[in-house]
Amino acid sequence: MSLLIKNARIITADSDFHGDIFIEGETIHSVGAELDVKADQTIDATGKVVFPGGIDPHVHLQMPFMGTWSSDSYETGTLAALHGGTTMVIDFILQTQGKSLRHALEAWQGRSDGNCYGDYSFHMAVTDFNENTKKEIREMVETGITSFKTFMAYKGALMIDDGQMVELMFEVKKQGGMVTVHATNGDMIDKLIAKHKSEGKLSPLYHWLSQPEVTEAEASGRFSDMADYTDVPAYIVHLTCEGALNAVRNATRRNQKIFVETCIQYLLLDASLYEREDGHKWVMSPPLRKQKDQETLWAGINQGLVQIVATDHCPFRWEQKMMGKDDFSKIPNGHPAIENRMELLWSEGVAKGRISPNKYVEVTSTNPAKIFGMYPKKGSLAPGSDADLVIFDPNVKHTLSAKTHHMNVDYSSYEGWELTGKCDKVLLRGKVAIDGGKVLIEKGYGEFVKRGKVSKVV
Ligand code: URP
Ligand code: ZN
Ligand code: ZN
Repeated sequence: MSLLIKNARIITADSDFHGDIFIEGETIHSVGAELDVKADQTIDATGKVVFPGGIDPHVHLQMPFMGTWSSDSYETGTLAALHGGTTMVIDFILQTQGKSLRHALEAWQGRSDGNCYGDYSFHMAVTDFNENTKKEIREMVETGITSFKTFMAYKGALMIDDGQMVELMFEVKKQGGMVTVHATNGDMIDKLIAKHKSEGKLSPLYHWLSQPEVTEAEASGRFSDMADYTDVPAYIVHLTCEGALNAVRNATRRNQKIFVETCIQYLLLDASLYEREDGHKWVMSPPLRKQKDQETLWAGINQGLVQIVATDHCPFRWEQKMMGKDDFSKIPNGHPAIENRMELLWSEGVAKGRISPNKYVEVTSTNPAKIFGMYPKKGSLAPGSDADLVIFDPNVKHTLSAKTHHMNVDYSSYEGWELTGKCDKVLLRGKVAIDGGKVLIEKGYGEFVKRGKVSKVV
């Protein structure tokens, strides 16, 4: 099966031109002006832009967390992602403390295998590093899971201490992997939560006030120091604020590269939402910050300090959020956005002139592919790359709403937001997966992507 996309404005991380894309089977065969080829199917993309399919490297699908499960399954989550132009996700496996990495991998495979619409991979969250876990790091790298997530918070469930962190870093470095981190000071946060609760301060506002900027800045600096000491490729997930980004900026002075991911919500939403009656919807960790932090993050993207905009998609339905109606510390942490990231960032970033179209492709697709060992199979529109791409109408105006979205969550964090630009067609490995909102592939089309060894620079 071959497919020709004609007359598109083709945008990649480093080019922007009008031309055609010829796809044969699952991959791109050629790209150029007025390609003289015969194809089984032709799509006229006049007036549209075409860019590589989004890669969201931070999602939590069907994950057990805080006494419940994130509400999107692999089926609903990867399908919602496709509707919004994200053709691949990297999900998190959580090791159970006291059990092996393999045990966790098998549990996650049991839920995801055969159930995905879009392509996917996993990070392995190491929550209990010991002599047994150490032996499994190499096995994970050989399976194609080359990034290892750590938590400096959620003590008693997910957090490891600094001794374990350094030992893990040495082993991951040896096996050619990367260490990623939820960088907040868990002990400080736990004390602040306990203090607020003892004072009867139980509303969502105190979720925010229990995780002040310093808790993230301190942990980001400490993590950077440990990564420098061990020389491991390192990545901070969901970075939210000026203090934390300054810790990374500081690390660049010794010529250290710490990769930084922020998430769409930290660019667009702020902590004033916690004062609302329904502030539970935005309870996530780290919390939303101040407008000055949003400015820092936009600048960080343009300065090259922030390489990726992800979502940390971890949806809970309202009924689940209500587990914490009388106590902020019981609200399951997380926010739904897997479907919205690409359209939000185009509308609020590119259309409003905050970032260039090339930067958009870099932070939504090319950098995730490069940093996590998938480039140029993914994140590229070059001959030989997987034909994962979005045909996007930059002029269509539409409104985000829970009534029309495809995520399995009964509210939208962006209800009523009017956006400019919408995904028209989404292709995954050469197949039109979404066409004008219609789904043209079956569940199970999504494949596990075996990732290669990571690099320390992009
Ligand atoms: O609130 C969040 N971010 N929930 C998901 C787990 C995590 O910390 O990434
Ligand atoms: Zn986290
Ligand atoms: Zn997360």
